[in-house]
Formats: sequence, C-alpha cells, structure tokens
Amino acid sequence: MIGVILRFPKNLVQAGLYIEAVECPSAEFPRRRFMLESEEDLKSILLSSAVDVLVSQQKSRVDVAALLERAPAGYFKPAPLSEPMRLETSAALEGAMDAMRQGLEAMVDGNIDMTHITEAAIAARRGVENAPELFVEMTRLKAKHKATYLHSVVVAGLMAQMAVLLEYDDEMVDEIGRAGILHDIGKLLIPNAILNKPGKLNAVEWRMIRSHPEIGYRHMKDLGGVSELILDVCRLHHEALDGSGYPLGLKDEQIIPVVRICTVCDVFDALTSVRPYKKAWTTADALTWMYDQPHMFDRKLILRLGSMFR
Ligand SMILES: [Fe+2]
Repeated sequence: MIGVILRFPKNLVQAGLYIEAVECPSAEFPRRRFMLESEEDLKSILLSSAVDVLVSQQKSRVDVAALLERAPAGYFKPAPLSEPMRLETSAALEGAMDAMRQGLEAMVDGNIDMTHITEAAIAARRGVENAPELFVEMTRLKAKHKATYLHSVVVAGLMAQMAVLLEYDDEMVDEIGRAGILHDIGKLLIPNAILNKPGKLNAVEWRMIRSHPEIGYRHMKDLGGVSELILDVCRLHHEALDGSGYPLGLKDEQIIPVVRICTVCDVFDALTSVRPYKKAWTTADALTWMYDQPHMFDRKLILRLGSMFR
C-alpha cells in the first residue's frame, strides 16, 4: 500500500499531510501538490467549498491509514503496513547489517571477505525490493556510530534495486550491491571524532573527510582481488557530471553509469537522513531538488529512483 493517492474528507485534514489536490467545484483553492504545514493553508482548505482532498500516502509525514480510520464509511481505508511486512523488512535490515559489519571489519583489517559483503548486498536488495519506503525509513534515525553502516546498507539496497530496474543481469546486480556496501569504506579509516563532529569542520578536517573515496580506493587496491567496478565506485562516487566533484574532477561520459547510480543513491540517502546539522528531507523534496541539479546528477537515474517510491 505504498505510494497511493487517497480521497480524504476535508474535516480530517491536518498538518503533515501531502496534498495532491483540493477538490473545489470552483477554483478557490488552486494550489496542488504541497506539504500542508501552515495554519493559514489549513483554514483555507476548511473554508473552501471542497468536500474532499486528495492526499499522497507516501509523501505524507503522518500516518494516513490511521487518520482515515476516522473517516465515515465509503472512504477507502488502506490497510496499514502489515506486521509480517514490518518484521520481514526489519529482519532483512538486521541480516544486512550483521553480514556487512563482519565483511567491512575484515576488509578494514586487511582481509578480503566478499562472502559477507555479498550476503549483505543481497539482504539489502531484498529489503528495498519488498518495501522501499519502509526499509529507508527504518534506517533514517541513524545513531552516530552506526551512521556509515546504515548508510551503506541503504545505498547498496537502492543501487541493487536500480540495477534490477535498469535490467542488469543478476550477477551484475549483486556486484553493484557489493559496490554499494563498500563505497564508503574509506570513512571507516577516518577517525570518528572527525566524522561525527557536530560543529564546523576546519580546513584540515574537511580535507580528511573529502579524502575518504581515495583512502578507501587505495586500501582496497592494496588488498588486491577487489574488482575494478567496486574500486571505481568507491573512488568516484563524489564526482559530478559538470566536473565539480572530487577527487579527480571527472566529467560526463568519463563517469561510468554504475558510479552515477551510486552518486544518486548516496546523495538521496544523505538528504533524507537526519544529520547533526540538518533535518531529514522528505523523499519527494529530495528527488525534486536532485532533479533540479542536472549539472550534477543523471536525470534519467533520478526518475528511475523516484519510480521505486511511487
Ligand atoms: Fe562517500
């Protein structure tokens, strides 16, 4: 039941609902597609001639299914996400986390452990496949010490699911998932005190953070036995199409599609997560903002990513 537009009785409308349209017979409330936040908008809707509004369940910040329980008979009441689905998604996340932790710890210690990395990638893919919004949601409140791990699991799951939608073969989907699990391994080689610093970073700290793609790449290259694709994704996931990214300042076609997939999933997860210095953006806001930056991101991929959440 993710991603449906629902008819909603006007008197149940409240802040946090994403309004697709207010159904007025005359056009006294022409605004469409917005997050209902202000008292003023709420009043205008209540005072309008509309009987119903159309609401996006997926983009709303409040539990639409629970609110609709209070609607009179005749309104479609979606079943809230089922308990088995929640349990399944949470098990997929836990499984991915366990396998990933083991795999990444081994890699940081200098031992290649692709078995656990693959296991993590497959579990993350399954989690996103079953319930993308729920899977991402469960990782949003990232405890600081777990942030890099949770971020990598989500990015891996989103990347693998993108790869499925882009019709890569199964072997490649797994490889792309592994690349997602490993893309930020360089961060595990940077002191936590810098990674989690809540205040402003000084120039040296900032340079260290920005060095994580290169640090991760060198570490895995020295280990040997890591594929070129995984190495590229790790080293290049902060490049931008217009050449303004780092570490190499590559442009357009110099950035291969799988790296672009990682960049899009990486930024999407960063925007929709809580960080010490910012609130989480909604899925819709993140996708819209990214779509409006074609100099940085591949628009086709943003649309593909968005299709998972509708
Ligand atoms: Fe990164």
